[in-house]
Amino acid sequence: TGYFTYDSGFAATAACTSDITFIDGQEGVLLYRGYPIEQLAENSNFMEVSYLLLNGELPTSQEYDDFTSLITRHTMVHEKIRSFMKGFQYDAHPMAMMMSVVGSFAAFYHNDTDVNNPKDRHLAAIRLIAKMPTVAAAVYKNYIGQPIMYPNNSLNFTERLLHMMYGVPAEPYEVNPVAAKALDLLFILHADHEQNASTSTVRLVGSTGANPYASIAGGIASLWGPAHGGANEAVLNMLDEIGDVSQIDKFIAKAKDKDDPFRLMGFGHRVYKNFDPRATIIRKATHDVLDALGIDDPRLELAMKLEDIALKDPYFVERKLYPNVDFYSGIIYKALNIPVQMFTVMFALARTVGWTAQWLEQHETADTRIGRPRQVYRGAKKRDFVARHKR
Ligand code: CMC
Repeated sequence: TGYFTYDSGFAATAACTSDITFIDGQEGVLLYRGYPIEQLAENSNFMEVSYLLLNGELPTSQEYDDFTSLITRHTMVHEKIRSFMKGFQYDAHPMAMMMSVVGSFAAFYHNDTDVNNPKDRHLAAIRLIAKMPTVAAAVYKNYIGQPIMYPNNSLNFTERLLHMMYGVPAEPYEVNPVAAKALDLLFILHADHEQNASTSTVRLVGSTGANPYASIAGGIASLWGPAHGGANEAVLNMLDEIGDVSQIDKFIAKAKDKDDPFRLMGFGHRVYKNFDPRATIIRKATHDVLDALGIDDPRLELAMKLEDIALKDPYFVERKLYPNVDFYSGIIYKALNIPVQMFTVMFALARTVGWTAQWLEQHETADTRIGRPRQVYRGAKKRDFVARHKR
């Protein structure tokens, strides 16, 4: 292979240096800027974690207030984006709409986006984080055919999102604090995860000097697939397909069958070979949220039983396949009345913080060299052209 090595799926290649997120896959450790995910989940909130990921340190009270009010000032989207949204077919997938709308930001916010100017980069990061809930709610409203809501800036980040998703212009809307808190926790857990496929996509697009909104739209595209962020939607669909505890063995057998493309969704991870610490936190939160909302979802029992059976099966044990972050998150989203097609949009909303933090870091450090992987060529040897009538 000459002077480079073949590394399918980049399983053994570091493509950048980073100070943001640390993962120890053998020990099941996840740290944001050095802080364990368990401590952040317990004591912090999504805005504080966003500040931490972007800036490297937890904010003081003053810094926290300044940051949240800055985010609040940027929650509205260009009015023409509302007309842009109206062009979509009513049943367009929410991820398709989100990807396109965020891509369109490159056109709407073009004149003050110079990637070589630190002020412009910071503004782009703030805009992205602030506008993502507005976009997420707008694609939802478009999906269900209700009027798109404006952001209510007297609410906090997750309350604002819930209000834009479930409020309607003619009626007052009371945010359920259990729902707002549950979303906040899920967003903390999804905020960053070092060089996963979507973050690597953002960095690869970013490495060419492309517009930040275009880079993040690339990340959204990459996140959509069922092997990555689309897994939360796939897990719920899988649980509904399994339907009943009595069917679990059949689906486990399918997952083990190498001639069957079916995989146990929400299971396995490239880096975690012990357990996914986010899954442990989410499993507990799922019980708490369902209890607090007084919901008895048979999917939870089904998921726990499925996990139980898989974790005892030699196939999963030998391959070190454990539930990942997406295994339980869908059950919480469902309890909050969020439709399955919106699950990955929620993930994208939270991961936007990680993507922008990584994009900023890429432009602030010396790691700006264009990403340009090589290949192992396996095609025809050099040969001479033959005229068409002679072939
Ligand atoms: N069900 C059944 N078999 C599996 C599964 C699964 N979910 N995951 C991996 N395997 C098997 C795989 O067939 C292979 O077996 P063998 O060695 O006999 O060929 C072995 O385990 C190693 O798998 P791999 O495909 O080489 O692992 P990878 O690191 O390339 O893929 C993964 C990681 C997450 C894409 C994969 O485990 C998977 O497809 N999981 C289901 C989808 C999922 O839950 N994705 C969410 C990931 S976490 C959140 C996120 O990133 O967004």
